[in-house]
Amino acid sequence: HRTAAVIPAAGRGVRLGPGAPKALRALGGTPMLIHAVRAMARSRAVALVVVVAPPDGAPEVRNLLDEHALPDRTEVLVVPGGDTRQESVRAGLAALPADITSVLIHDAARPLVPVDTVDSVVEAVRDGAPAVVPALPLADTVKEVEPGAPGEPEPVVATPERARLRAVQTPQGFDLATLLRAHEAIAVSGEGATDDAGMVERTGVTVVTVPGHEEAFKVTRPLDLVLAEAVLARRRA
Ligand code: CTP
Ligand code: MG
Repeated sequence: HRTAAVIPAAGRGVRLGPGAPKALRALGGTPMLIHAVRAMARSRAVALVVVVAPPDGAPEVRNLLDEHALPDRTEVLVVPGGDTRQESVRAGLAALPADITSVLIHDAARPLVPVDTVDSVVEAVRDGAPAVVPALPLADTVKEVEPGAPGEPEPVVATPERARLRAVQTPQGFDLATLLRAHEAIAVSGEGATDDAGMVERTGVTVVTVPGHEEAFKVTRPLDLVLAEAVLARRRA
């Protein structure tokens, strides 16, 4: 069994506001992407990390990786990404060597995921689950609405029972053949998906959850950066 981690890092980070691509922004003085690579490499199960860089940023990302210390045994490849997260993941999967049998897909935008969460995803895949997502119960009640114009009131359509809902994080873990099949199917149907497990679900394969972690939150908006800095500072204290 050889497990690789693919890190999609090709996004612009529009919701974070103007500046460098999100994955290259500093967190505690170190680019977010470096934190994310270290978070994967820290797991003994991960043999290889594939970083999917902004389309024109692969050389810059390669330099960054060479400048920052990583655990010794980690091999890191860099490939250019695409216009959508799905295309970027696809580019990362295409770079995997033939001896890889399972894969983690991990957002560069989740730089602080603890190694125990990574390990529990890998373990569930190695125990035979074809698709595994870390998940947490929700704090907020969630409403389904009929989407309208931004800023305008929207009619509520339904209120799913909160106790049955989970917010999912990354790394999401997969049997590689299962994930490749899901990507093929989506490419044919032309549909989109906001996470990799969602694509696998559509092929009829059962996805299971393992407990996620609060610190695996995604840095999306400016307030998330404030929280990420605080978590890092607490770890260093
Ligand atoms: N991603 C990617 N390629 C894209 C778009 C997104 O590799 N074309 C990656 C991002 O770099 C990020 C992860 O997918 O690590 C999760 O996406 P998100 O948090 O939405 O990041 P961005 O798309 O960069 O942010 P925004 O949607 O605010 O622009
Ligand atoms: Mg995005």
